[in-house]
Amino acid sequence: MSLISKTLNAFQTKFSFNTPPRLFQAPGRVNLIGEHTDYNDGFVLPAAIDRLILVAATARRDARVNVYAMNFDQWDRFDMRGEIARLSENAWGNYIRGMAWSLIQEGCELRGMDAVVAGNVPIGAGLSSSAAMEVALGFSMLQLSESDIDRKSLALAAQKAENQFVGMRCGIMDQFISCLGYNEHALLIDCRDLTYRAVRLPSRVSIVIVDSGVHRGLMDMEYNARRAECETAAKHFGVSALRDVDLEAFRSRAPQLSSVVRRRAQHVISENDRTLMAATALQADDLTTFGNLMVASHTSLRDDYEVSCPELDLLVEIALGVKGVYGARMTGAGFGGCMVALATKEATEALVTAVKEHYLASGRRAVTYICKASEGVSELKDFKR
Ligand code: GLA
Repeated sequence: MSLISKTLNAFQTKFSFNTPPRLFQAPGRVNLIGEHTDYNDGFVLPAAIDRLILVAATARRDARVNVYAMNFDQWDRFDMRGEIARLSENAWGNYIRGMAWSLIQEGCELRGMDAVVAGNVPIGAGLSSSAAMEVALGFSMLQLSESDIDRKSLALAAQKAENQFVGMRCGIMDQFISCLGYNEHALLIDCRDLTYRAVRLPSRVSIVIVDSGVHRGLMDMEYNARRAECETAAKHFGVSALRDVDLEAFRSRAPQLSSVVRRRAQHVISENDRTLMAATALQADDLTTFGNLMVASHTSLRDDYEVSCPELDLLVEIALGVKGVYGARMTGAGFGGCMVALATKEATEALVTAVKEHYLASGRRAVTYICKASEGVSELKDFKR
């Protein structure tokens, strides 16, 4: 049974009403290059993927929100009037509560809703299941209340929910691509002014994502620590964000920095350059250059930013040993999660086999997803059950 059918069936079982629900989706993402640059006002090149969060929902007359999460077999219920409380358990509920809180702060008038949420973005694997959840729920709330805001504002509201309600100081990349993703394209996003350019992915390549199976608990703490180190570096250079430091300025003034902060800054500054070069290469259909930049990005994340792990390094090594793979790197925040590789369609099978054979050495099981660059949040109409 398809995810749509399962979600609609669950809606029928959980809410005994006659009005058929409306259906909304928001995708997860994979970042091709530009890692840990978004919160430094830099550049990123992600694509939305065909793994998504689905919401089946109807509006209510009052301000109550009743959400059933199929993947967890759990409910969250709250009222949008008055203060919206933060949960200490059911962490997924905080993404929904945070979204309602953030949209209300934006001045949106929201109606209550009954909803079932389900999804096939792997949870905790670094493919932005939480951003997809925020965006899908936020979009549903707005549509059901006939209170629209533009996509960029929705992305910003979702980031605010995550920063201020959930307590994770993420950048804007994940929410932005989940809102504005584009079929068959990656987006080069300038995270300072939020302008962007769609860059087509050639039809002869596949995006292959491999989940390392390492899902680290302390991710938020490490992530926030990296952010603080970048802020220290920016202060040293007298700028508001590392985006404003070029490699030349970096080289002349880096020796005064501590070794750790220097390496963090070196990653961010060089990664911004790599991301711009990668977008140009992709546009020129130069996949060899693109692939080399992906590999350089991985090395920098491993050695200077120190957010990779032996399992991800092994996956990259396995991928690079397969003929027809242009490049591979860890993707997302790191400390576990996924590797992304860009490979010719013909090489895809060999890559899947190589991972199966050689990843065993890590003692873990890898899961592979072959993904298509997809569109951002939308309402599904004329859907097949
Ligand atoms: C997480 C965050 C993003 C970004 C990446 C690293 O996915 O949510 O904002 O910082 O890590 O590039």
